[in-house]
Amino acid sequence: MELREWKTVLVPYEYAVEELKVKFKNIRKELRNNGEYSPIEFVTGRVKKISSIISKAKKLNINMDEIEEKIEDIAGIRIMCQFVEDIYTIVSLIKTRKDMTVVCEKDYIKNYKDSGYRSYHVIIKYPIQTASGLKEILAEIQIRTLAMNFWATIEHSLKYKYQHDIPEDIAKRLRRAADAAFLLDQEMSEIREEIMRAQIMFEMKSLTVRDILDSIQKLYSLGETEKAFKFQERFDKLNGLEDLREIIILRNEIDNILAKYNQ
Ligand code: GTP
Ligand code: MG
Repeated sequence: MELREWKTVLVPYEYAVEELKVKFKNIRKELRNNGEYSPIEFVTGRVKKISSIISKAKKLNINMDEIEEKIEDIAGIRIMCQFVEDIYTIVSLIKTRKDMTVVCEKDYIKNYKDSGYRSYHVIIKYPIQTASGLKEILAEIQIRTLAMNFWATIEHSLKYKYQHDIPEDIAKRLRRAADAAFLLDQEMSEIREEIMRAQIMFEMKSLTVRDILDSIQKLYSLGETEKAFKFQERFDKLNGLEDLREIIILRNEIDNILAKYNQ
């Protein structure tokens, strides 16, 4: 194929990369604007270089007329997230979308490669509208954490430096580094769980405290001044929001008294 022909073939892939980048970046933008958490941290994309397409085709014995169906990563998108859990959120999100179809997925997190490589790969079919009509192309979406990306970037440049022949001692270190990066991801996930648990706990406590204060007000207004005063005293003695159990006991006691009025 001539260079001019190559360029024509690659046009829809360039469109696809641009469109997909915008779409995933917009998800992040929209969630952030709504004050919600975004599972997407940042997005990159590229069209494979012609020289890389040719050498991959040679390596895999692919005919020039089969390139578009057999090389799945001519269009490539990379989505980086903070936490491993986010990766699976994004995969589900991709599956529910109507503007792309998943044709294949590889979980290199559960089944990490010998090199130590971890990422989630999804191959999608993506329709693209060009001047000459509709065309369905394949694109590869790699989803990984920031730590996985850090590792893959460095390993890639070492592979490049050693022309794919990384000496065994360095390869061993890289495998150890990949395990360490994954340990970091797991530690971060646990901290995140802890933070989320603490947030839910705080939420529950403040709702219960609001109930108690409302109920004490109600007792006053019902003329139960003495009872209201006693509950108020017990509430004041609570050590801030420390003990959820005490808070709940107090609320239940007041509710029981108020229930008699509602009969
Ligand atoms: P190629 O690896 O591209 O020849 O295709 P494949 O059919 O083997 O697909 P695979 O899912 O194994 O890999 C696709 C892409 O994932 C690669 O092009 C890289 O971007 C990335 N990848 C896979 N393995 C590694 C690895 O060991 N190190 C790094 N840095 N990237 C990897
Ligand atoms: Mg490979």
